[in-house]
Amino acid sequence: MSQPITVKKLKDKKQKGEKFTVLTAYDSTMASLCEKAGVDVILVGDSLGMVVQGRETTVPVTMDDIIYHARCVARATSNVVKMLDMPFMSFAYQTQAIDNAARLMQEGMAEVIKLESGAHQADLIAELSRNGVPVCAHLGLTPQTIHKLGSYGKRGKTSEEAAQIVADAQRLEQSGADLILLECVPAELAKRVTETVSVPVIGIGAGRDVDAQVLVIYDILGASGYIPSFAKNFLAESDSIEGALRLYVESVKNGSFPAA
Ligand code: KIV
Repeated sequence: MSQPITVKKLKDKKQKGEKFTVLTAYDSTMASLCEKAGVDVILVGDSLGMVVQGRETTVPVTMDDIIYHARCVARATSNVVKMLDMPFMSFAYQTQAIDNAARLMQEGMAEVIKLESGAHQADLIAELSRNGVPVCAHLGLTPQTIHKLGSYGKRGKTSEEAAQIVADAQRLEQSGADLILLECVPAELAKRVTETVSVPVIGIGAGRDVDAQVLVIYDILGASGYIPSFAKNFLAESDSIEGALRLYVESVKNGSFPAA
């Protein structure tokens, strides 16, 4: 039986220059296939609001929704790292955030919690870290703020915005973030962040020069109505779902995905 992946092992992979893979999954069947295919981390993301619940945005997703889907994933997996999203407004103030992080770990079996971040969360991340909660800080495009942002476009395109993202990543690493996730930022900015911080950087729509890739599982199976330009339908080149997941894992690990 293979040994479970841990956050420490993900950090070792960065040190060794080995890429790793992350995929979203929300149910036992897909989670089990991800594990068999060699995915390192399953993200029970609040994207479930859009791809499972059919909502317009991730904003309506609740703690109970994440915990329900996370428990489905946990029942089917033993080796992958399980990363769970803190939903919209579930970490707006510190005591509430700590209670909710505890729920994700105790009820949802989280091994890492992810929060859409900025430097204003440095103290919260430090407190979570001191209490033994591994944290992934999500920077760049933060879909929970869609009603403020107005669009899902790329972030960090100006030099000021790019400098802010680099500074936030450094600050949050110093506060205790174990992983950084960068969503929809220019590839050269993602490369700069990856070279600047010592914790692993996971990218989505952030180019190839990061330590790991994450995608929404339905996007790589061509099942979403719309496939984002940075994703790829791996099922089109395979004869089974497990084959498509294996191809994704191989392609990230050998550097052929993403192409740029
Ligand atoms: O919720 C999610 O699935 C995510 C990924 C798209 C990174 O945050």
